[in-house]
Amino acid sequence: MQSMTVAEARQSKAAGKTARLQGWIRTRRDSKGGFSFLELNDGSSMGNIQIIADSKLANYESEIKHLSAGCSVTVEGEVKTSPAKGQATEVQAREITVHGWADPETYPLQKKRHSFEFLRTLAHLRPRTNTFGAIARVRNCACRSIHAFFQEAGFLYVHPPIITASDCEGAGEMFKVTTLDLANVPKIGGAVDFTHDFFDRPSYLTVSGQLEAEILACALGKVYTFGPTFRAENSNTSRHLAEFWMVEPEMAFFELTDNMDLAERFLKRLFGDVLAQCPEDMQFFEDRIQKGTFDTLQGVVHSEFVRLSYTEAVDILSRSGTAFEFPVAWGNDLQAEHERYLTEEHCKKPVILFDYPSTIKPFYMRVNDDEKTVRAMDILVPRVGEIIGGSQREERLDVITHRMREQGLDPETYWWYLDLRRYGTVPHSGFGLGLERVVQFATGMANIRDVIPFPRVPGNADF
Ligand code: 4AD
Ligand code: MG
Repeated sequence: MQSMTVAEARQSKAAGKTARLQGWIRTRRDSKGGFSFLELNDGSSMGNIQIIADSKLANYESEIKHLSAGCSVTVEGEVKTSPAKGQATEVQAREITVHGWADPETYPLQKKRHSFEFLRTLAHLRPRTNTFGAIARVRNCACRSIHAFFQEAGFLYVHPPIITASDCEGAGEMFKVTTLDLANVPKIGGAVDFTHDFFDRPSYLTVSGQLEAEILACALGKVYTFGPTFRAENSNTSRHLAEFWMVEPEMAFFELTDNMDLAERFLKRLFGDVLAQCPEDMQFFEDRIQKGTFDTLQGVVHSEFVRLSYTEAVDILSRSGTAFEFPVAWGNDLQAEHERYLTEEHCKKPVILFDYPSTIKPFYMRVNDDEKTVRAMDILVPRVGEIIGGSQREERLDVITHRMREQGLDPETYWWYLDLRRYGTVPHSGFGLGLERVVQFATGMANIRDVIPFPRVPGNADF
């Protein structure tokens, strides 16, 4: 007896084998001929395997005829070539053990299609649906591809801290970490006395591992981080989470164009892998979630990304004749509507925007000779908008110290970051890719809350 996943048992080469399968019942149908068809799923693939349960089974009347969606079972039997259309194999059961019942009167996942809003309230059960099973497999595939890409390219996987005292992005959107008694906060001169706190200073959940990745790249060459990051931005959009996963490569001796080349190759590999390794799940997304998903991904894999400076982009937007909600003017940050116009309407492919005004970007980006723009790059893709944000880093001590002061940061507290510029400084670059934006783009799911198992958003930390 061989344990087999449903995915393995569904392949024609499994025919003739005796197998043990374990999973959850999706449906039961009784035939007049005195046997039942069970659809079994175990999460290994989108498709179920059909189990034929004969009335000769000892527990046929007492148990099998009462099985319903959500019940858990072990099935032992023979995998056979199936005469039915649309499936290579089926399993003739010799024995079925029921582990857990799921009362059909109360089991929340009924056969009808549920809205994604409703399923968000059932985050503990939604992984059992076709859509969320497929998302989990695509997400896993993306993670494997991310590691494979960087490992094959000689990058070291490094681990920046999750608790930090510095605000990398300077946006002040950080969750505080404290062990102070909030009902009885120690004060000194009216302000909180953090010397009584766990770390003796205000500390936070990280918004990005970049600053520490720079330390490691400036010793090890090419590194990447991949972990959770946290942002307390109170935005209820379909593209923002308060907790999301970010991949951040950081490379010594890379200038901005090297950074762009790497990011473009990386995205092509990533979406190419998803298409190649998750064909059944991707077909589901194409047919049931978002028509055109295949073409859009193929487009990314095969097209050359358009590279536009921020100034050129502002020009295109101003001349577009489109009535945007937010005004377009040199110096303003681009809004989602502008980004989408550029990638969806104007270029119809991924766009790399670079050289943004220094006033709208963080202190660490390298200042250009014009002294007005910095070596930033954002990569925009259709539907999702910004998927990557990155830059060449400012490696000149005097310039970066000046930029910090300009942005109201105290260079003293970043002494270690400045030491990288003081001792053996090198040109270096990196970027951040949001994993959930990747999964959102790959699957065509409209809301980012549906591509992470347990979304963290304002007002919700259930499950
Ligand atoms: O553009 P961001 O803020 O860049 C950084 O954090 C840099 N430190 C990265 C670096 O250069 N190492 O974020 C990078 C990416 C975005 O392009 C987006 O894909 C994702 O992270 N992201 C979010 N994803 C989900 N929810 C949010 N609230 C996100 N904020 C950023
Ligand atoms: Mg950004």
